[in-house]
Amino acid sequence: MDALLALDQGTSSSRAVVFGRDGRMLAVAQRELTQHFPQPGWVEHDAGEIWEGQIACAREAMSKAGVKAAAIGITNQRETVVLWDRKMGEPLHKALVWQDRRTAAFCESLKAQGLEPRVRELTGLLLDPYFSATKLRWLLDNVAGARERAERGELAFGTVDSWLLWKLTDGAVHATDASNASRTLLFDIHRGDWSDELLGIFGIPRALLPEVRPSAGVFGQAAEFGVPISGIAGDQQAALFGQAALQPGQAKNTYGTGCFLLMHTGTQAHMSTQGLLTTRAAQLDALPQYALEGSVFVGGAVVQWLRDGLHAVQASSEVQALALSVPDAGGVMFVPAFAGLGAPYWRPDARGAILGLTRGSTQAHIARAALESIAFQSAAVLAAMNADVGAAERLTELRVDGGASANDLLMQFQADLLGIPVLRPQVIETTALGAALLAGIGAGVYASADEIGAIWQLDRAFEPRMSRDEAEARLAQWDRAVRQVLAA
Ligand code: G3P
Repeated sequence: MDALLALDQGTSSSRAVVFGRDGRMLAVAQRELTQHFPQPGWVEHDAGEIWEGQIACAREAMSKAGVKAAAIGITNQRETVVLWDRKMGEPLHKALVWQDRRTAAFCESLKAQGLEPRVRELTGLLLDPYFSATKLRWLLDNVAGARERAERGELAFGTVDSWLLWKLTDGAVHATDASNASRTLLFDIHRGDWSDELLGIFGIPRALLPEVRPSAGVFGQAAEFGVPISGIAGDQQAALFGQAALQPGQAKNTYGTGCFLLMHTGTQAHMSTQGLLTTRAAQLDALPQYALEGSVFVGGAVVQWLRDGLHAVQASSEVQALALSVPDAGGVMFVPAFAGLGAPYWRPDARGAILGLTRGSTQAHIARAALESIAFQSAAVLAAMNADVGAAERLTELRVDGGASANDLLMQFQADLLGIPVLRPQVIETTALGAALLAGIGAGVYASADEIGAIWQLDRAFEPRMSRDEAEARLAQWDRAVRQVLAA
């Protein structure tokens, strides 16, 4: 049997999923990942824990499935920076997570030098702490001896995919794929190579960088499992692939720690005028594939905060019931700008707020407003995307996935706000599925991407029920709340 093992290293957890050739899930293992917040706005992970947790999940999922995998695919939280010693295989510092804002002032200083338009032209991204380059520079400047050692070629940088690939191959392979490289601010998305100009701007020695390859193809052998690692993609690009959104104009929204709405734009890089990102989609060969992306930093993480910060629930699964215990949010608006605001606002300095509280407001109203905030932020991104692509290309439906897409209340509210059907597939582990499918193509389990379309099966379509007038009024209320937060 041609089973495929996907390693999905997300922001909140490590997961390993075994899929059959038909895309059915055979086994899952998951471990929550410790979040470190050493200072306000700083977010770190322990790269050692990432590796230990991921390999433990892989072993558990394989033993539960009771089959041998034909190949392994890796998918990962993107942008997060790991810096390690090539000889010892040990990280020099905790990984700096994509949500970390410590380099906001440095990004501002680069903007003040007028560098943003050029950086944007080469990378499709913006000067925001979200991306890897300024974090890597921070490590080189703040870990004793790191810069000198990097220049001597003793250190390796990687996003989480590279780190896992390195560990799985016992240090034999230092590589990444184009979708992950395109999130670093160091990769020229048009030429498909690291850019000396960008390396100069950010002060990064080339000797640190992994080799960039297509997303499907054999990267190396996983010594422990005796199988090839033959697919790698950043989690959002993997989800786009797993949603079988392979044609220009097809789009998906993933409700994970954050929310990421991506539209495939084929072999053309569409440069946004609306605060969206241009990025590499997963690619099967040397031919570049592109996507337009709206990144929302806090999606499902707001539910985690209700549990761990506010202690409103014991388990994330209780949030839907709490939110449904009231008919609406009672005028409460929640702007979860815990890590600044991403697309389409791009304000790393913004901080969260709960607005519209009255004596009658309860935890249930706050929980409902928190869930609604996930849909409001995604609606703002979709509006920007529609404005970018023009009337003829407007989205007419949206495929959804990720943990929070299981929440019917949220999906219905999303369809209501957007005014288009929201389609939830049977497998909402689309990120892991995408990595498995890429690995399957890379290892020759599937002859081509044509086989992928048949794997996508609808679970439920959420049709808009709210009147457009009411939806517009709710969206205007959201805009007002965001403006208040941005002005604070
Ligand atoms: O860009 C960050 C993104 O890759 C994180 O994804 O699934 O951990 O929210 P997730």
